[in-house]
Amino acid sequence: MWWFSSPRIAFGEDSLEFLETLEGRFLIVTDTNLVKAGIVEKVTRYLKGEYEIFDRVEPDPSFEIVEEGVIVAQSFKPDYIIGVGGGSSLDVAKGVRIIYENPDLDPEEISPWTDVEEKGVKLILIPTASGSGSEGSNAIVLTKKDESRKIASIHPRIMADYAIVDPEMVNDLPEKVAAFTGLDALSHAIDAYVSAWKNDFADGLCIQACKLLFNYLPRACKDRNDREAVEKVHNAATLAGLAIGSSQAGLSHSLGHSIGGVFHIPHGFACGISLPYTTKYYSRFAMEYYEELAYHLGIQAKGEEAIDELVKKIKSLLASLNVPDNLRGIFKEYGIEEKEFYDKLDKLIYNSSTDNTVLTLVDIPSEEDFERLFIYAFEGREIDF
Ligand SMILES: [Fe+2]
Repeated sequence: MWWFSSPRIAFGEDSLEFLETLEGRFLIVTDTNLVKAGIVEKVTRYLKGEYEIFDRVEPDPSFEIVEEGVIVAQSFKPDYIIGVGGGSSLDVAKGVRIIYENPDLDPEEISPWTDVEEKGVKLILIPTASGSGSEGSNAIVLTKKDESRKIASIHPRIMADYAIVDPEMVNDLPEKVAAFTGLDALSHAIDAYVSAWKNDFADGLCIQACKLLFNYLPRACKDRNDREAVEKVHNAATLAGLAIGSSQAGLSHSLGHSIGGVFHIPHGFACGISLPYTTKYYSRFAMEYYEELAYHLGIQAKGEEAIDELVKKIKSLLASLNVPDNLRGIFKEYGIEEKEFYDKLDKLIYNSSTDNTVLTLVDIPSEEDFERLFIYAFEGREIDF
């Protein structure tokens, strides 16, 4: 037996107005920049009831931040926890809700089978970027700082009760952020479509998310006033989030989590730049799935040719977003030396081959193949092994 779960989703212009229908005590989980930029105010103006803002979320949030948020919740006693932000704030909000309801639960120990109590605290997630899809998934990614390592936890109680996907919240996203968050969404849609857990309910979401992202992401990055493109990409991110909530992320994320954990470059760049390499490599295990996805994206070719076309399509999307199609290029932008990459290659291989995302791969690459994948993605070499 399988389940497909989803929050109730309010989407499109003015969907924030849904908040006016709620009454109670609201704890907002967010980051300080969003408060300063007036983005959180776009939410609080609709709230009927007392609210408190926990704004200590940082990029690559740690388990400790969740614990801090739980302490605030314990004193404020909210009826609703509202995550406002990118994946980091939404993940922390999810963590705060489940631990607030289950204070004895060790967040590192959460698995899909963990018994938890539900005490009626409602979780509402409002994305301020179009990428993580965290608002639609039952997963949390937190960083274990002492190990430079990201840990993904999955549980039904992590799923939000409501998601509000209002393009008003992403109007001011800078071009670069729009690019890497959009690439994260694309990585979700492609990973989920070729997962060992792929299923009929998630597959349609993946296809539509891919179509929307290939068609609208370049436009949405170039001009945030292009309301159609911005809204389509915002929807696509949630569609892809729902898909990974069901089918799970895959190989681009095994690499991406590892690269992000060690070098702290934006998650969407880490996954998106890995995509051409993971697609070509992994197609040997999932040729039919990739071929089918390519077909839905207008690629008529079959077999290896279809894969090559798909890789070309991903690379030309990267080019249209001014994103390099190899890790060396992006590392240069973030001031990371080549030597550092090779010095930390063993750590990259270990982290990716033990990442939770490998559990839902059709076939798990050997450590040698992980090593080659990283080197080829770094050097920008065509996969030939
Ligand atoms: Fe992701």
